[in-house]
Amino acid sequence: MADRATEAVWVEKYRPASLKEMVGQEAIVPLLRSYAEKRSMPHLMFAGPPGTGKTTAALALARDLFGAEWRQSFLELNASDSRGIDTVRTTIKEYARTSPFGAVGFKILFLDEADNLTSEAQASLRRMMERYSGSCRFILSCNYSSRIIDPIQSRCAVFRFRAYSTEAVRAQLERVAKAEGKKVSAEAMETMLTASAGDMRRAVNLLQLTATHADHVTADTVKEYATVPLRREVEAMLGAALEGNFLEARGRLYRVFTDRGASGEDVLRAIHSYLPDIPDTVLPPREKVRLVEYLGEVDFRLAEGASDRIQLEAVLAHVATGRSVGK
Ligand SMILES: Nc1ncnc2c1ncn2[C@@H]1O[C@H](COP(=O)(O)OP(=O)(O)OP(=O)(O)O)[C@@H](O)[C@H]1O
Ligand SMILES: [Mg+2]
Repeated sequence: MADRATEAVWVEKYRPASLKEMVGQEAIVPLLRSYAEKRSMPHLMFAGPPGTGKTTAALALARDLFGAEWRQSFLELNASDSRGIDTVRTTIKEYARTSPFGAVGFKILFLDEADNLTSEAQASLRRMMERYSGSCRFILSCNYSSRIIDPIQSRCAVFRFRAYSTEAVRAQLERVAKAEGKKVSAEAMETMLTASAGDMRRAVNLLQLTATHADHVTADTVKEYATVPLRREVEAMLGAALEGNFLEARGRLYRVFTDRGASGEDVLRAIHSYLPDIPDTVLPPREKVRLVEYLGEVDFRLAEGASDRIQLEAVLAHVATGRSVGK
C-alpha cells in the first residue's frame, strides 16, 4: 500500500492476535482452540481463497499455544520464495530437526503457498513431515488443495476455509471503523460488503482506502475507490498488453491490486466490459472471441479460489503473446 511508511496498514494492525478474537470460520476456529488448549495437534492443511483467515489462524494458534515466546517456536516460510526451493528445503530441514523450546514439546512450521511446490518438492516435504513429526508440526497453506499430493493430504487434518459471511466481514469492519473513529454510512457498508465478496483483506483495505480521505465514509467514496478508476487503469494495462509489453502490463496489474485493493474478479469484470470498445484493428474479432472464452475459464478458476495474481497475469500473457502469435 502506498502509505505504508507513514500509516499502519489496517489489515496488520487489526489482525486478530488470538483465536478467541477471530470472527467467522465457525467450523474451524473451535477445533484449533482445542489444539491450543490440549497442547497437541496433528499436521494441518489450510485450504481456501485469499483473505479468508488462513495466515491469521496459523499465527493466532501459535500465539495461543506458545504464549509470549511464540516466535521462538514458529517459523513462517513461503513456498514460492524467490531464493528457490533448495533454500526452502534447507531451511525447513534445519528448523524442523532442532529440538523444540519450552513446555509444548514441538514447534510449528507454517508453509505458505504450498500449492506452488512442484510434486517433486512435495515428495521431499512429505519425507520431512514424517521424519521430524516428533519435534515439528507443519501447517501448509494453499488456495487449491487439489494441487497437494495425496500422501501429504492424508498426513494432515485438512481445514477448508470459506469466503467470510457478510456478518463476519461486517463485524470486523465495524470494529476497525470504531477503533479508528470513522463513521461508515449503512449504504457504504453494504457497498464494501458486496465489493469484498467475503475476502476480509479486501474489505479492510477498502475501508482504509476510503476512510483515509474522510471521517465519514459514504457509498460514493467506496464506489469511486472500488470501481471507477479501475476502468481507466485496466484500459492502460490492457493497452500495454495489446502492444506486447507484458512487463508493463503486469506492473500495472500489481498496482491495481495493491493501491486499489481490487480483487481478481473486479479486474476480470473490468477487462470483460472493456473488450467491446477495443477497435477491431487493434484486436480482430476472432481474437476477441478467443479472449472472451478464456476470460470465462479464468472466471471459473477464480470462483474456485485460484490466485488472483497468477490468473490475471495469465490473461495478460495471453493477450500479449496472442497478439504477437497472430501477427
Ligand atoms: N477472522 C478474522 N477476524 C478478523 N479479521 C480477519 C479475520 N481473518 C482475516 N482477517 C483480516 O484479513 C487479513 C487477511 O487475512 P489472512 O492473511 O489470514 O488471509 P489468508 O487466508 O492467509 O489469505 P492468502 O490466501 O492471500 O494468504 C488479516 O490481516 C486480517 O486483518
Ligand atoms: Mg496468507
